[in-house]
Amino acid sequence: MTGESGRKWVEEHLKVGKEILYLTQEEVKNIGLSDGEILSLTEKALAAHGEKRTEMPAKIGLHPLKDTLMHAMPAYLPDHSACGIKWASCFPDNRERFGMPQTSGLLIYNDPESGWPLAVMDAVWITEKRTPAVTCVAAKHLAPAGVTTFGMIGCGVQGRAHVGMIERVLARLETIYVYDVFEEAARKLVLDLQPAVKAKIVKAGSIEEVVRSSKVVASATAITAQPRPRIRDSWVRRGQTILMCDMHSLYEDATMKRADKYLVDSIEEHELFVGYGYYPDGLPEIYAETGEVAAGLKKGRENPEELIVCNNVGMAVEDMMVAKALFVRALSTGAGRKLPL
Ligand SMILES: NC(=O)c1ccc[n+]([C@@H]2O[C@H](COP(=O)([O-])OP(=O)(O)OC[C@H]3O[C@@H](n4cnc5c(N)ncnc54)[C@H](O)[C@@H]3O)[C@@H](O)[C@H]2O)c1
Repeated sequence: MTGESGRKWVEEHLKVGKEILYLTQEEVKNIGLSDGEILSLTEKALAAHGEKRTEMPAKIGLHPLKDTLMHAMPAYLPDHSACGIKWASCFPDNRERFGMPQTSGLLIYNDPESGWPLAVMDAVWITEKRTPAVTCVAAKHLAPAGVTTFGMIGCGVQGRAHVGMIERVLARLETIYVYDVFEEAARKLVLDLQPAVKAKIVKAGSIEEVVRSSKVVASATAITAQPRPRIRDSWVRRGQTILMCDMHSLYEDATMKRADKYLVDSIEEHELFVGYGYYPDGLPEIYAETGEVAAGLKKGRENPEELIVCNNVGMAVEDMMVAKALFVRALSTGAGRKLPL
C-alpha cells in the first residue's frame, strides 16, 4: 500500500493529525504476521538498503550504564512509503537486576506525506522477529550449500527466535547446537522448541563444542563495549559462516580480520560505533553490506572454503517495513486502540 491511494486508505481508517493507533506488545503479536512474512519483509528492507533506496542515518545513542545502549533508529523507505523511528534499548543485566528482558523498545510510525505520527507500537516483538530474519537472509546467501549443522550461542529471546526461524533458509539442517552460560536457558530452548524444529537440537557442553561442531554459527549474547573473546581463533575453521547480532563481543580480533569476506549491515552505522569505542582494534576491511548481497549487487558465498563473517547490529529499515505491515493489518482488522493526539 503506497502512494496516493495508500494514503487515502489510511485517511479512511484514521483521523490523521488528530489521532494515532496504539498497539501494545500483545496486540502486535496477535496481529499474526507469520515468520515467512517477516522474512520476506526483512529481505525487501535489506535489498532496498543495499540499492541505496532508503534514508537511514546511523543510530545515535545513549549509554547510561556500562555495556548498555539506547538507540534512536529512524528510517524511510520511499518505495514502500514506510517511515518512522524506533527507540530501543539493550541492558544485559536486566534479568539479574529486575527479572526483565534486556531488549525493549517503542516505535513511532509516521505519515511520510504530512510527517504526522500515525501509530505508536511496542517494538519488542518486532525486534525479536526481524533480527533473526536478518540472520536468515545472511545465511541464505553466505552459508555453504546443503549445510547440515547450525550453532546458536545465547539462548535468550534472540537465540530462541533464531532457532525457530533458521530452517526456513537452511532446509537441510540435521543438528542445531545451542549453548548459553545460563544453562537453564539452553535446556529450556531445547524443551520448548524441539517439537516444532525438524533438526535435532543438542545442548552443547561448551561454547567450543558449538563452534567446532557447526558450519554456521550465530550468536546473540550481550554487546559489550570492549570485546570479551570467549571463542579462540584456533577453533574457527575455513568454510564456516559466522553470523552475529551481538557485534564482535565473543570473538578474537584475529578471527574477524582473517575472514575471506567480512560484511556488516550498515558501514555508516559500524563506523559510528568505532567512534563510540566498540572496535578498539578497528573494523576489518569490509567486503559488502548485507543488503548489497540480498539485492544481488555483490556475491555471497563463492566457494565452500571461504570463512565468512556477517556482523548485523540491526537497522531501522527492517523495523519500519515490519511496522508498516503491522499498521496496515491492524487498521484493516480493527486491532489496537485509537488515542487522541
Ligand atoms: N543486531 C540486532 O539487530 C539486535 C537486536 C536485538 C538484540 N540484539 C542483541 O542480541 C543479544 C541478545 O539479545 P536478547 O534479547 O536475546 O537477550 P537475552 O538476555 O534474552 O539473551 C541473551 C542470552 O545470552 C546469554 N549469554 C550472555 N553471555 C553469554 C556468553 N558469553 N556465552 C553464551 N551465552 C551468553 C545469556 O545468559 C542470555 O540467556 C544482545 O546482545 C542484544 O544487544 C541485537
